[in-house]
Amino acid sequence: MAAEILAGWEMVATESNQRWNPDEYDRTARFVSDLGADALALLDPSPGERILDLGCGDGVLTERIIRVGARVVALDSSAEQVTAARGRGVDARVGDAASLEFQNEFDAVFSNAVLHWIRDVDAVLAGVHRTLRSGGRFVAEFGGAGNIETVRLALVAALNRRGFDGQALDPWYFPGAAEYSDRLEAHGFVVESAELFDRPTRLTGDMLDWLALFGQRFFAALNEGDRPTAVAEVCDAVRAGLQRADGTWMVDYVRLRVKALKADDGAIATKHHA
Ligand SMILES: C[S@@+](CC[C@H](N)C(=O)[O-])C[C@H]1O[C@@H](n2cnc3c(N)ncnc32)[C@H](O)[C@@H]1O
Repeated sequence: MAAEILAGWEMVATESNQRWNPDEYDRTARFVSDLGADALALLDPSPGERILDLGCGDGVLTERIIRVGARVVALDSSAEQVTAARGRGVDARVGDAASLEFQNEFDAVFSNAVLHWIRDVDAVLAGVHRTLRSGGRFVAEFGGAGNIETVRLALVAALNRRGFDGQALDPWYFPGAAEYSDRLEAHGFVVESAELFDRPTRLTGDMLDWLALFGQRFFAALNEGDRPTAVAEVCDAVRAGLQRADGTWMVDYVRLRVKALKADDGAIATKHHA
């Protein structure tokens, strides 16, 4: 299956060369939304609140916010994912998290497993800040420093061996808690919590499928015919570190979970006069 996916990739002209296919996402990455439950608990949505789900994917996690009675707008850059989310009745729109156009209109912005895919962190945070009403909250979980390090290094090495700059093809931004807190504060947020933690994650499928879904940016640089060998090589490289005796894969995920508030106008005024 992974070989078919690899052979079928279109060379999409996006910054990340990353295509999100809802069927593949459901088959290979359902753990992503399932494991978003704790971030959702931190969001603690209330009935009637207006919430923006940034990078909603296929809308499975979004539905859980809606079920509480919150009024949710969902945004994702993948038209395919947006179609899947709409199929679940979600008010989903195609859009880029790095160029948000909302103004002071949401009680909360929520994001699960998205922000490590976006290099322009400042554009995202400026947009989230604009989007929130005064006193609104931003709750996000995504890959933090050290995330999937075993796989990331194997991918970079495989591309380097083929004459590419593997590091330059790395699409991910995995910050530490202090670094990201500084970025949040620079954009006018008050950081309530920023927690970096290990979350070893058992894959439901094979490493080949995981690589085909999440490693597209690296393999898209190769000729179609070279991709299956390169993917197999990366699998072999990470096997000793990540595959268990029973054949299942346990990937070295690390998450950063943050909650930050857009200071209300009164608090900003107080701070300036302190
Ligand atoms: C791993 S999925 C997470 C989806 C969902 N939040 C969940 O928990 O299942 C990452 C999603 O981020 C979206 N994404 C990536 N870059 C984006 C951007 N710049 N703007 C909006 N969405 C983006 C992708 O299209 C994809 O659906």
